[in-house]
Amino acid sequence: MEKKIVEIFDISYEGAGVGKLDGQIVFVPKTLPKEQLEISVVKRNSNFLIGRLEKILKGSEIRIKPFCPYFDVCGGCDFQHCDYLQEIQIKKQILAKELGKAEFNGEIETVLSDKRKNYRNKIKLEVKDGEIGYFRQKSHDFFKIEQCPVASEAINEILPVVKRFIDLNNFKALKNVYIKQVDKRLGVCFLFEKNGKKSLNNIKKIELFGENSVYFAYGDVLESNKTDVFCVFGSAKLHQILKGLDLEVDVSSFNQINDETAEKLYECIVDNTANKRVVNAYSGQGFLTFLISQKAKFVYGIEFQVSAHESAEKLKNLSDDFKFENICGKVEECLDVVLLRDAIDIIVLDPAREGCQKSVLNSILNSKIEQVIYVSCNFATLVRDLKILKENYKIERVLMFDMFPCTANMETVVLLSNKCN
Ligand SMILES: C[S@@+](CC[C@H](N)C(=O)[O-])C[C@H]1O[C@@H](n2cnc3c(N)ncnc32)[C@H](O)[C@@H]1O
Repeated sequence: MEKKIVEIFDISYEGAGVGKLDGQIVFVPKTLPKEQLEISVVKRNSNFLIGRLEKILKGSEIRIKPFCPYFDVCGGCDFQHCDYLQEIQIKKQILAKELGKAEFNGEIETVLSDKRKNYRNKIKLEVKDGEIGYFRQKSHDFFKIEQCPVASEAINEILPVVKRFIDLNNFKALKNVYIKQVDKRLGVCFLFEKNGKKSLNNIKKIELFGENSVYFAYGDVLESNKTDVFCVFGSAKLHQILKGLDLEVDVSSFNQINDETAEKLYECIVDNTANKRVVNAYSGQGFLTFLISQKAKFVYGIEFQVSAHESAEKLKNLSDDFKFENICGKVEECLDVVLLRDAIDIIVLDPAREGCQKSVLNSILNSKIEQVIYVSCNFATLVRDLKILKENYKIERVLMFDMFPCTANMETVVLLSNKCN
């Protein structure tokens, strides 16, 4: 393949270096501004090219040695080759550029991650021909792994066991293995195709997993009402100790993947909802609802995944005097009912990557809610939704929580206040 010389002048919102080649924009993953590179073009689209780094001719002074042996090929991390504080600066610039589209040009506060390595409490492995691994960047090309240095130590220690277990059982229709660490225990969930049900009686050497729990699931993705999950070994529920409380965790429900950063994020939301009547929309397993309720006047949690709602209901056992109600349903169907019943001061929105439904935003615009706290892991949908909320709400503060170090992803918290009140 023909080699070309390129100079990088920017970073794209997906974390790739941006250069120009024969007048066309070229994205080169895992490169940095001011670098001079030898690249080969691996993909040509109508208005941009994708390049592959072949040789660094002049490296950036912020370039460092990645700690993962698979960094060059893996689709998981984008910034291991970059000094951590510079990674934060780059992500802040990416966010600032995106928020500019919603006419926000103010300061972005940053909250760093305590760890850059071993921070992930959850990974999703691909399975191919009995091997475990990940996909290469922007593709479904599988490569096998023996470790994932951004995942917790306990997750890395179980990887050889997972591989041995797959070898011994020669599973067909196995698509993914999810490994979730909750406190000191692991939940290892083998996800099979929906119609790939294997007899649960005939599993070899399951005791390899020791004190951990093993689940078989059948469906497209783990975190869905449509996926059937069976505990085949160990305790059915995992337990998270959060601020001295023993919380039940369902392996198939959403949890924030960086425990330390999640704690800081929750603290920020709790402090900003004290003494108020609150809706916590897209509330997952209810930990945040519970924490908010400790300082707020009252909280309604709204979550549509049944298993997550059931975990949230168990939180009522932690106190006789709880000040929250968990509603199981879609936010777009339940929010108006809550707003008719109660005078809500603040709504917390923490939707999945798809963002909020338009009807949810319209309900907020038609309400007297004083403040909105929007928590987002996808700034594209965040900006889309902020443009709508802007009609009645003004952005007061923006915080970037580094939930996903070494990647171009970030958790953004936007605090908005009602312009009409
Ligand atoms: C990003 S998670 C946030 C969970 C929670 N705030 C936390 O910190 O653990 C989004 C949650 O919204 C739920 N969800 C997605 N779409 C929903 C909808 N339309 N109505 C209600 N819940 C929804 C998902 O099941 C998931 O639990």
